[in-house]
Amino acid sequence: MEKAVSIVKDFKEQCETPLGKLREVADAMNFEMHAGLDSEAASSMLKMLITYVHKLPTGDEKGLFYALDLGGTNIRALRVHLGGKEKGIVRIESEKVSIPPHLMTSSSNELFDFIATSLAKFVSSEPQEFHPPHGRQRELGFTFSFPVRQTSIVSGTLIKWTKSFDIEDLVGEDVVRKLTKSMAKIGLNMRVAALVNDTVGTLARARFSNHDVIVGVVFGTGTNAAYVEHAHAIPKWHGLVPKSGEMVINTEWGDFCSIHLPLTEYDQALDAESINPGEQIFEKVISGMYLGDIVRRALLKMAEEANFFGDTIPPKLAIPFILKAYEMAAMNHDTSSDLKVVGNRLRDIFEIHNTSLIVRKIVVELCDIVVIRAARLAAAGIFGLLKKTGRDTVKVVEQQRPVIALDGGLFEQYPKFRTCLESTLKELLRIEAAETIVIEHSQDGSGVGAALLAASHSQYLGVEDH
Ligand code: GLC
Repeated sequence: MEKAVSIVKDFKEQCETPLGKLREVADAMNFEMHAGLDSEAASSMLKMLITYVHKLPTGDEKGLFYALDLGGTNIRALRVHLGGKEKGIVRIESEKVSIPPHLMTSSSNELFDFIATSLAKFVSSEPQEFHPPHGRQRELGFTFSFPVRQTSIVSGTLIKWTKSFDIEDLVGEDVVRKLTKSMAKIGLNMRVAALVNDTVGTLARARFSNHDVIVGVVFGTGTNAAYVEHAHAIPKWHGLVPKSGEMVINTEWGDFCSIHLPLTEYDQALDAESINPGEQIFEKVISGMYLGDIVRRALLKMAEEANFFGDTIPPKLAIPFILKAYEMAAMNHDTSSDLKVVGNRLRDIFEIHNTSLIVRKIVVELCDIVVIRAARLAAAGIFGLLKKTGRDTVKVVEQQRPVIALDGGLFEQYPKFRTCLESTLKELLRIEAAETIVIEHSQDGSGVGAALLAASHSQYLGVEDH
């Protein structure tokens, strides 16, 4: 056991994130954000993508709009009824379909045909009274949560895949054109009115109810942030200055990397064996797709080098991504005196039976180390973004209280991540400024937000509602 304890101790030390380190991470993030806004150079670490969203929902949006949310392990189709200022969001109907894993690495035609078919199935449950009048199309907000170089609010080419997707023939292609083609093939009467990233949806959803929202952040399978930037502060933007004077920027901060990030041998191995080595390093230490695998790698080393689970190495420990973040969360929040949940999960996931209390305690400690590092670095990312917007000190904060909207499975389903993120952010902000920053949950932001953006970019704006 001594050897195992010393492996954990070393790991803990390497994962430490004292405030000084977090401030350095935030400064590096701020620096890279400036660089990414300066030019479209491929060498920029942060892409700081122009989203063509310069009018966010106002709360006046009305009508029936669809959204399609693609980005993690599921596709979600939504039908959102908007009732304008008085009624707000009247009703949300939705359906979730899990994406067969082989479609994540097959061909783009197969993926988009599958998406269009799932969407059509959902549309077919539309009550008669909501059918669009003759000659009118249904409108869709398409949330495509990967880095996309947009050329308008309704077009954009995929720069590269992230998370577990890897379909080569889509890189460089216009994703809206692809979806439109697949929808036309099956005769689905629907037009993409807005192509958005999930962070932009998160921002839009929260803005619908609160005008002070300036940042949208997702902590889910992956992680990313979008924020409202002054158009004149984007040197690489050569288009007309929008009426609002603002432009939403998709930072794609998951690709951030810095010498200040506390990376360990497990992170290095995870990265080297991933489908995108050298990329998305910030994402790989923070987001839901990866946290469980970091824990698994540490456990495997302890099994191999310290007989942590006895004389044999449990074979399941060698399977990448077998430990999901929600299972890790369940173990991490186990309050029973004998850590029964931990014992059961080790048995069910890894087929490791009869673990002692001390073994279970060490497993919980590993989860703690990994999730605390993730949450503290996530807070540093937000702090870096606030610096970029000039909201990190009280001096420049105007009357309003800037609001940060957050969403994503990790944020929603891992209380320890959430509370540690919030307390670290408070630590990072100077006391006075901390009181002026508000964090709120943008419920269902990536889906509902896209429907709202479809509404604010509707081709029928100004035309009488049906
Ligand atoms: C990945 C994607 C990004 C998305 C994030 C959260 O980082 O590249 O576009 O916003 O995951 O889903």
